[in-house]
Amino acid sequence: RVIVLEKREYMGGNTNSSTGGINAAGTSYQKALGIEDSKELYFHDTMEGGHNLNDPELVHALVDNAPSVLDWLASMGGDFTDVGIMGGSSVRRTHRPEGGLAIGPHLMKILSNEARAKNVEIRTANTVLDILKSPDGRASGVKVRQKNGRDYTISARSVVIATGGFGGNLDMVTRYRADLKGFGTVNHKGATGDAFAWVEKFGAELYQMEMIQIHPTVEAKNSLLITEAVRGNGAILVNGAAERFVNEMDTRDVVSSAILKQDKGRAFLLFDQAVRASLSSIETYDRQGLLISANSLEDMAAKTELNADALKKSIERYNGFQAKGQDEDFHRSGTQMPRPIAEAPFYAVEVKPAIHHTMGGIHIDSKARVLNKEGKVVGGLYACGEVTGGVHGGNRLGGNGVADIVVFGKTAGASAADNL
Ligand code: FUM
Repeated sequence: RVIVLEKREYMGGNTNSSTGGINAAGTSYQKALGIEDSKELYFHDTMEGGHNLNDPELVHALVDNAPSVLDWLASMGGDFTDVGIMGGSSVRRTHRPEGGLAIGPHLMKILSNEARAKNVEIRTANTVLDILKSPDGRASGVKVRQKNGRDYTISARSVVIATGGFGGNLDMVTRYRADLKGFGTVNHKGATGDAFAWVEKFGAELYQMEMIQIHPTVEAKNSLLITEAVRGNGAILVNGAAERFVNEMDTRDVVSSAILKQDKGRAFLLFDQAVRASLSSIETYDRQGLLISANSLEDMAAKTELNADALKKSIERYNGFQAKGQDEDFHRSGTQMPRPIAEAPFYAVEVKPAIHHTMGGIHIDSKARVLNKEGKVVGGLYACGEVTGGVHGGNRLGGNGVADIVVFGKTAGASAADNL
């Protein structure tokens, strides 16, 4: 018998707003599009992107299991036919539904339907207060608070922690990283890191807690994330002088830090109608009123208060590199420049980096079993997703967050069941 406890009124957490896609290498979807990739290359990109601070055992588990997890999700109705590229990936390996639909809501629909069909009991507005510990040191259940304020306990032989990270708890973020004081966050309100207190009594190892990712392209006024897939599909970044200043497809830490060095610590994400047509998640940004649109570059310059000649020069120069498949200024690869910026209307979003993902957390092994400070397994206790640490090292690649949650979520479920 499985019970899911969710403190908010609805399930999903940050996954509800996850857009870019899910990484996997060597999939049937890539093969159908003629994309050559391998688990070795995916492993290499993930380790290099994470500055080799990742736990290699966990990265191997991610890379090895991602294709079969996609097939498993596809068997429940998952669509992964649109394969794009995200920063730090050598090839197109970020899978999303046809037309570039947002991945998160798609997965939540599939997984919650499947859970209900399998009679999993889902209790929303039920807040876990603590994990119970048996005299022999194993996890033995949870203490829960209902919406009406009444508390109860559930005895369980296996407990899986899948609470997400702490990117919505700015006090906790700045405790680990004082330099992030004043940054916005794209995290949902429930990402408060409650689980870290629950695992103290088990001596669980908290791993790389200071590894906190800021995402480069967050709409400046409302702290709404503009997916990296927009850049992957052809957008560029310019500063207040209307000049490019970075390889837009470099890893997030590099791009964020480059934006922060620009005047006002901001940039404009620029793209055209062809990019918009390639990625239906852009329609959401339009509905949210985030897009500045213009029928010509002169008009765009006027609306963004950029210099028109400088803007035209930057776009002409980028389009020249795109045609040659070689970026002489910032070395963005040909694969990362899929189309020129040429088709009106043109679009811009003013962006500033904001807190995105907490990469550190509870240390687990490749079976999603929680490890204590001596590296020993804590009986009956499993963890998966953003609450764990070690998969992403010093910098997570776009598309690896969703891969992480489904690969280690499925593994945690299997391990919890084995334990019974
Ligand atoms: O930019 C994005 O779509 C974010 C994706 C991710 O963090 O994996």
